Amino acid sequence: SSTIASAAIVEHSFHVQNLTVHKLCHRQVITAVNGSLPGPTIRVHEGDTLVIHVFNKSPYNLTIHWHGIFQLMSAWADGPDFITQCPIQPGASYTYRFTVTQQEGTLWWHAHVSWIRATVYGALIIRPRHGHSYPFPKPYREVPILLGEWWNANVLDVERQARATGAAPNNSDAYTINGRPGDLYPCSNKKSTYKLKIVHGKTYLLRIINAALNNQLFFKIANHKLTVVAVDASYTKPYVTDVVLVGPGQTTDVLLKADQAPRAYYMAARPYASAPNVPFDNTTTRGLIVYDNAPSSVKRVPSMPVMPAFNDTPTAYRFSSNLTGLAGARHWVPVPLQVDEHMFVTIGLGLERCRRNRVCQGPNGQKLSASMNNASFVFPSRLSILQAFAFNVAGIYTADFPNRPPLQFDYTNASNNNNTAIIFAPKRTSVKKVRFNATVEMILQDTALLAAENHPMHLHGFNFHVLAQGFGNFDPARDRSKFNLVDPQIRNTIGVPVGGWAAIRFTANNPGAWIMHCHLDVHLSSGFGTVFLVENGPTPATTLPPPPEDLPMC
Ligand code: C2O
Repeated sequence: SSTIASAAIVEHSFHVQNLTVHKLCHRQVITAVNGSLPGPTIRVHEGDTLVIHVFNKSPYNLTIHWHGIFQLMSAWADGPDFITQCPIQPGASYTYRFTVTQQEGTLWWHAHVSWIRATVYGALIIRPRHGHSYPFPKPYREVPILLGEWWNANVLDVERQARATGAAPNNSDAYTINGRPGDLYPCSNKKSTYKLKIVHGKTYLLRIINAALNNQLFFKIANHKLTVVAVDASYTKPYVTDVVLVGPGQTTDVLLKADQAPRAYYMAARPYASAPNVPFDNTTTRGLIVYDNAPSSVKRVPSMPVMPAFNDTPTAYRFSSNLTGLAGARHWVPVPLQVDEHMFVTIGLGLERCRRNRVCQGPNGQKLSASMNNASFVFPSRLSILQAFAFNVAGIYTADFPNRPPLQFDYTNASNNNNTAIIFAPKRTSVKKVRFNATVEMILQDTALLAAENHPMHLHGFNFHVLAQGFGNFDPARDRSKFNLVDPQIRNTIGVPVGGWAAIRFTANNPGAWIMHCHLDVHLSSGFGTVFLVENGPTPATTLPPPPEDLPMC
């Protein structure tokens, strides 16, 4: 048929290699793909097959994850280390092969081992198939805007030090827009500022991606309204706003109409940090948009947007909870009404005891730790979970992740909680097995055992409907009636409100091992995750094929 004829094979080679760069008056060796930061932008049409040959010429273990891609019947290409594959070792290679189907919009790719994604990331843009158009007027240009985070130190050293001392890691030294910090940092200037030229009267589609490691970001453009048309590669009802909140892992597509006085304006991003007393880099990265016919006298004095305060939870919540899905759009999936697995999952930070005779630098002289339903996730090291699942290898994981936390407590009022059994969650590789096509509902409940915080929770392999969100302890009698079963936003990453909850649903229609985790890397490396094991379906078409021959071994 014509749809099959129009699908293409899009092939790329990723040469991953160390690279010396100069930023903020520092010379730093980073790991980068094809010598660029951000890495290459991948562009496909829905229905295309991607073939990406990854050559690891860096000194570190590596994997690449295609964030938000469904990987239908291709779980072996998902990429998180020790979940779907063993890492690609230095000198080795692996070819990721998958079809991009049933989704369109903005996604991205990043390394999924250690913290190396700080510099190993790029945009993945899925346009509609030939002959199909957007559910909004065709933009004049499309522009990826990748927000990132930059350290003057080697990020792997930053990570190692945090793990060894049990303390929070050193803050990044800058946020970046398309790899550039902008001119507000020490030793930075106009040359380190991203610049977009625009034509008066035209409309631009900005594909905003938060690739930062540990911070949610507010994004604004001076004097301009933005119209959100998609999040996480899923269309939304047009939503007009002057500020966008993007959590790590999330993407937001906005239309920008060049309808203001022709001059120069700053676009800016700076953190939304919901946890009290956690030190973080509260600085601002900015870039420029410049009207092409602006007189040079006014180009020199760009307007700066007024950014929300770093702890402006009302603004963050208003943006995140007001978005709705574009029900009926192409690839729209109605909310499944019949639920097979009802899960109530506590998420949050706790502590890990320090080894005997040692004092750690975390709270109470302990180490920071994180957990879901009282299990602090430990990555396997001998084999990936998917290999163990597919070939029935015992001893790699336990399929005992519970549907509820072992104890009920006042989740969001820290002073009511002195429950050491929960603060010191056991470290385990505990996963949840679900039947093919089961519908899973999860109430994600933030906890305030240590401190409440907005956690961007990301699920691999599936999109989910965000039925409702709120503050405080989830109360079924009160809160179930708020579920939007008609046109909820569809996402792969949800910022669970600080000291609050979010209700999500997805249908497990894809066999494989799918990690769900907090997309703040500092939390993922402290155990903030679990894995869904989805069994094969009844037919060959719903059975996971055998792994590719070059799948890296441990
Ligand atoms: Cu952006 Cu586990 O992923």
